[in-house]
Amino acid sequence: MKDKLNKIEEEALQAASVITTEVEMQQVRARYLGRKGEITMVMKGMGQLSSEERPLVGALANEVKDRLEEAFDVRQDALRQELMQQNLASERLDVTLPGRKLGRGYKHPITKVTEEIVAIFAALGFGVVEGPEIEKDFYNFEALNIPKDHPARDMQDTFYVSEEVVLRTHTSPVQIRTMLKQKPPLRVIAPGTVYRRDSDVTHSPMFHQIEGFLVDRKVTFGDLKGILTTFITEFFGQNVDVRFRPSFFPFTEPSAEVDIQCVICGGSGCRVCGQTGWLEILGSGMIDPEVFKSVDYDPVVYSGFAFGMGIERIAMLKYGVNDLRLFFENDLRFLKQF
Ligand code: PHE
Repeated sequence: MKDKLNKIEEEALQAASVITTEVEMQQVRARYLGRKGEITMVMKGMGQLSSEERPLVGALANEVKDRLEEAFDVRQDALRQELMQQNLASERLDVTLPGRKLGRGYKHPITKVTEEIVAIFAALGFGVVEGPEIEKDFYNFEALNIPKDHPARDMQDTFYVSEEVVLRTHTSPVQIRTMLKQKPPLRVIAPGTVYRRDSDVTHSPMFHQIEGFLVDRKVTFGDLKGILTTFITEFFGQNVDVRFRPSFFPFTEPSAEVDIQCVICGGSGCRVCGQTGWLEILGSGMIDPEVFKSVDYDPVVYSGFAFGMGIERIAMLKYGVNDLRLFFENDLRFLKQF
């Protein structure tokens, strides 16, 4: 029995020395010191021993038990230390490493161009107003002198939400909303998002426009020319040529489209300007008396002009961008250039 106890002790110490987790430690403890453990079993079997042998073996069993308890405790402490060191090593932070730089944001070119245009008109005394992108047929068409059967409705491929509700095809409905709310004199610009069923290198189903209009007594076409020429030379530079070309819009009479000298070829003719030397940048005209009637302004007393331009188109010309879709892809390599 003494030999057996010594052998158990040897085995137990060996087992404790190779464990790697606390769970294994508990299992080893149970196997040797538990209620059904090896030492306990030996003690239970002591009844068969002679009365001389019994106290000796009993004493030895207690000693072995004490020594194992202590050895297990020491091993367990060591194990805890080891595990903690491992954790510390794997979670080590090098506080001397340089920090990661935060990426700096950039304004989108469309936002930049919008802000620039708004600033030029603000300096000319224009205030900013906005209107809804989901618009009633009345504001988008009817009140702008485009009745239901008017062929001009075909000019603008409209997204219909319902019979009477559309995604606005231009910012001109803001003219109507503003004039219904305020009385002249008015000097207003209205930047915003507009929608048309159109998509290619120069068209996107969603794009941006800036509307502008001025209403007062005795406003003339000369005022329109003066304001727009001032804007264009401020935006594109003093030496850009400007021309006003007769055109048609249902809500202005007379109407003019405004061209600037081609910014790519300088007017000598190239692919971008279709060899004409000119680029169209906006639509404009004197507000039609029919429009004044629909907002209850007296066309005998008041006159005014209005204009509308596509911001993507202006941004393309200003920055020499040849595909409008680049503005909507949000590729950082593109956006970072502005
Ligand atoms: N709303 C017109 C368009 O989108 C532009 C325009 C605005 C023309 C104001 C004249 C006056 O094409």
